[in-house]
Amino acid sequence: MSKVTVVGAGNVGATGANIMAIKEVANEVVLIDIKEGLSEGKALDMFQTETLLDFDTKLTGVTNDYKATANSDVVVITSGIPRKPGMTREELIGVNAGIVKSVVSSIIEHSPNAILVIVSNPMDTMTYLAAKTSGLPKNHIIGMGGALDSSRFKCYLSKALNANINDIDGMVIGGHGDTTMLPLVSKASYKGLPVCNFASKETLDQVVADTMVGGATLTKLLGTSAWYAPGAALAMVVESILQDQKKMIPSCVYLDGEYGLNDICIGVPAVIGRNGVEKIVEIELNEEEKAKFAASAEAVAKTNAILKEINAL
Ligand code: NAI
Ligand code: 2OP
Repeated sequence: MSKVTVVGAGNVGATGANIMAIKEVANEVVLIDIKEGLSEGKALDMFQTETLLDFDTKLTGVTNDYKATANSDVVVITSGIPRKPGMTREELIGVNAGIVKSVVSSIIEHSPNAILVIVSNPMDTMTYLAAKTSGLPKNHIIGMGGALDSSRFKCYLSKALNANINDIDGMVIGGHGDTTMLPLVSKASYKGLPVCNFASKETLDQVVADTMVGGATLTKLLGTSAWYAPGAALAMVVESILQDQKKMIPSCVYLDGEYGLNDICIGVPAVIGRNGVEKIVEIELNEEEKAKFAASAEAVAKTNAILKEINAL
C-alpha cells in the first residue's frame, strides 16, 4: 500500500494529484490546503472521474488537517504563491520560505520517514530549506525542476529540428531559474545522434534561450505560472520513487562534494527510486558548461543566503 500527500491543491498540486490518481501511481492520494473546502472539492471532483477513466485510487481532500497525511510514503510540496508576469522565481522567497518551513515541520510530525518532493519556488532554495530543517536523510529530499525544464528543452528541440518529440532526448541541469538553468546541448540527441548534426549553432542557441525562459513565457500568456507540465513532471518523479523505476531524472539534490560543490541543492542527473535519490550521476561537462554550472551554483547559493537574512534558517 502506498500513500502520497500533495500539499497545496492549487494549479500544480491538483494537476499532479490528478495525474497520479489516474495513473494509479499510489493507492491513496491526499490533497491538503489551507483554503477551506478546496482540497475536499478537488478530491471529490477527481473521484467522480474514476468510472469514466477506469481507475480506483483512493482520494482524500482535507483543510489543514495533517492527521490525514500520516504515514505518507511521498509528500509533494506545492504550497505557496506562484509568480506573476514579470516576476522572477527568486522574488517569491519571502512568502514561500515561511510556508514551506511550517509545512515541512507539520509533515514530518506525521510522516517521519517520508520522501519529500519540493516544487514551491524558488525551488532550489526551498529544497535546501527542507534539507536543512526536516532532519530527513539527504536522499529523502528531491527538488522538482529539471524534469520540467528538460521536457521544455525537448519540446523546443523537436520544433527546431522538425523531429518527432519522442525521438529527442536531452536534459537541463543547474538551478531552476531563468538565468541559472543549463540546457545541455552537447548531450542532447535525435534518435541517439548529436543534435548539432541537424541544426545550426544559431538555431540551438535559440532553443537554449527559449528553454531558459520557458516558464516566464507561460506566465506571460497565462497570468500565473504553468501547471500541466509541472504537474506531469512531479507525477513522473513520484512514480519513479514509488514504482522503484530508478529513472535518471535531472533533479535538485543535496550535494556533498559531487561536482565539486558542498552544502547546496541544485539540479544534476540523479537516479530516483524507492530510496529517493539513489545515485547522483557525475557527468563530464565541457569547459563552457563547467563555467555556467559554477555560475549557476553561485547564484543559487546567493539566494540560499537570504534564508538566514529572513531568519528562516
Ligand atoms: P496556486 O496558487 O495555484 O496554488 C498554491 C496553493 O498553495 C494554494 O491553493 C494555496 O491555498 C496553497 N497554500 C498556501 N499556503 C499553504 C499552506 N501553508 N499550507 C497548505 N497550502 C497552502 O500556485 P501553483 O501555480 O500551484 O504553484 C505552486 C508553487 O509551485 C509556486 O511557488 C510556483 O512558483 C511553483 N512552481 C514550481 C515549478 C517547478 O518546476 N518547481 C513549476 C510550477 C510552479
Ligand atoms: C515554471 O517553471 C514558474 O517554476 C515555474 O513554470
